[in-house]
Amino acid sequence: MINPSKKLLFDIKKLSGKTSWNSPSNIALIKYWGKKDLQAPINPSLSLTLNHCCSKTEISYIKSDNGFKYEFYFHNKLKPEFNKKLDTFFKRIIGYFPFLNKLNLKIDSENSFPHSSGIASSASAFSSLSLCLVDIEKSILGKNDFSNKASFISRLGSGSACRSVYGPAALWGKTNLLSDSNDNYAVPFKLPNFYSDYCDTILIVDENSKSVSSSTGHELIKNHYFKSNRIVQANANLENIINSIKKNDTNQFIEIIENEALTLHAMMLTSNPSFILFKPNTINIINKVWDFRKENNSSLCFTLDAGANIHLLYHNNDYKLVQDFINDKLLVYCSNGKYINDNIGMGPTRI
Ligand code: PMV
Repeated sequence: MINPSKKLLFDIKKLSGKTSWNSPSNIALIKYWGKKDLQAPINPSLSLTLNHCCSKTEISYIKSDNGFKYEFYFHNKLKPEFNKKLDTFFKRIIGYFPFLNKLNLKIDSENSFPHSSGIASSASAFSSLSLCLVDIEKSILGKNDFSNKASFISRLGSGSACRSVYGPAALWGKTNLLSDSNDNYAVPFKLPNFYSDYCDTILIVDENSKSVSSSTGHELIKNHYFKSNRIVQANANLENIINSIKKNDTNQFIEIIENEALTLHAMMLTSNPSFILFKPNTINIINKVWDFRKENNSSLCFTLDAGANIHLLYHNNDYKLVQDFINDKLLVYCSNGKYINDNIGMGPTRI
């Protein structure tokens, strides 16, 4: 458990410096959809950590004589429009970082993936920001519970961000299947080498930001008719996917991943009010992937985030086969022919 810090015991001379972290996005195989309490998940989730879709955040800090202040720059431009989200985040975390009350921060952030690609950046953004903050705490206080605290603080920005702190895979949420699992922060999930060699090609079906936010989607689960069954299903899918990974049962692995993706969107369709985030081309691609799998002895499968874009997951051994398939059959469904080739990564790095 990470407790709020009560005392302001630190060396005032150390109150200036700079730190910078690069942190990836992640893609959930078992989906987190629905919260309880403050940013705690109603079910455990499991994700693969990406390699190239990252946010880089640098924080420069100096001593402040009149309380906590920050400025946020995105790609070198001052962006006050992000302050509402950031104010909520800092309000939630300041009790865990009392030294912030003595600091002025200049936060510079940038994404490695294109703007307006429809790719959610909250996981990479909040994890890179949180890693910088925990790093500052470490240099001021001398030591801390680094990764767990970084994951804990990331979670208070965006739930799924807590999983980005670990590569190649992370598990978040209490489950009897993993002894150190908990709702407060993610823990690393050991992945056999075979799965660490997976690729994720993100097909950009819609470049616009989505019509309904994840926060609204999570909120609608509170009174969802299928909520309790969804919790049972997610736990069963987690147990089965862990077994399929242990047994290297690719067919079962694929079946669970696609079932989770479609269930996520089924929960949206059956929320009250209901909403739809996939697009006709999302479904066109899914049908092509199913055809392709029937025709080829391939590990290719798809998953979806809370949006219209498709993540194609496949083993590196199939790289050429899948790239040819994308270029021949799928580009026509992508917005302006856009896609991003990524693969499983080992987690954040200090720059
Ligand atoms: O972390 P949030 O609040 O953006 O929610 C993310 C939810 C999904 O991406 C749909 C699923 C997940 O587990 O990442």
